[in-house]
Amino acid sequence: MRSVDAGSGAGAVLKSNDLCWCGSGRKYKRCHKGNEGKVLPGRVSPMLTVPDTIKPTDYYLTGKPRRWDEPMIKSPETIEAMRVACKVAAEVLAVTGAAVAPGVTTDELDRIAHQAYIDRGAFPSTLNYHGYPKSVCTSVNEVICHGIPDDRPLADGDIVNIDVTAYIGGVHGDCNATFFAGDVDPESQRLVEVTRRCRELGIAAAKPGRPISDIGRAIQAHAEANGYGVVRAFVGHGIGEQFHLPPNVPHYYTPQATTIMKPGMTFTIEPMITAGSWRERMWDNGWTAVTSDGKRTAQFEHTLVITETGAEVLTVEP
Ligand code: MF3
Ligand code: CO
Ligand code: CO
Repeated sequence: MRSVDAGSGAGAVLKSNDLCWCGSGRKYKRCHKGNEGKVLPGRVSPMLTVPDTIKPTDYYLTGKPRRWDEPMIKSPETIEAMRVACKVAAEVLAVTGAAVAPGVTTDELDRIAHQAYIDRGAFPSTLNYHGYPKSVCTSVNEVICHGIPDDRPLADGDIVNIDVTAYIGGVHGDCNATFFAGDVDPESQRLVEVTRRCRELGIAAAKPGRPISDIGRAIQAHAEANGYGVVRAFVGHGIGEQFHLPPNVPHYYTPQATTIMKPGMTFTIEPMITAGSWRERMWDNGWTAVTSDGKRTAQFEHTLVITETGAEVLTVEP
């Protein structure tokens, strides 16, 4: 695996009490010493605000989403509203992804996304969701998911997943994609392309009358045929008026995923595929999951609706 910074070979000459090479302002021993090449938590800026002309989520002030029994099969009106929210999410993702480049911080990506939601009259679903402090998740290299945007600049060769969820018209739309910062090594490019294909194969397996477990079976087969792992700890989810709902959508095969897909069901497929171990470790911020072996991981997500014949992607790329 490439290292985060060409200068990280300086590990050989830096002393413990020297300032770290990465520009964090911390002593080397409190920063990258022993963690060369790894993504480390940076400084998180204050939560951004949204103009009060935009309808917020029910949890924006409290951090606690209201829970109710929402049907898995949505009304035609709800599906129409989700088309709008999903289109907005896909647009915000495209706008933000276009800004990915070496030297850009993930906090800057968050600010770009935040403005893009507002420009479209949408509220960022993640803002204060169970206390989450930002408008997107930005997950770099070995970060599996729920990376919190911070002051770490992207390095040439990084891969970064941006996860966008938009709330507008009373419903959520959720999608993500993995982007390249500068020149990415061929093995990481392969990981990203296999992951995108895993999502497409998962969508192709989503059909009325079939159990949800078909989706994970298709994804796992393709990932493992390419020598990759499938993260178990995070799954796709039902979505609608609430952000996360039944059914769970595992990206690996499990006979427990027995829910039969039916027209009008809306859920996400969002496989996280790993170059090495599929096991995760959590940062002590309580959110960010990284691979247990520090190897890279990629993710792609769409929100879809089951139709009479298959599945339709709602978070269509602009
Ligand atoms: N968008 C993520 C998903 O795909 C969830 C992010 S929740 C957050 O389900 F709180 F971490 F932002
Ligand atoms: Co999701
Ligand atoms: Co998401």
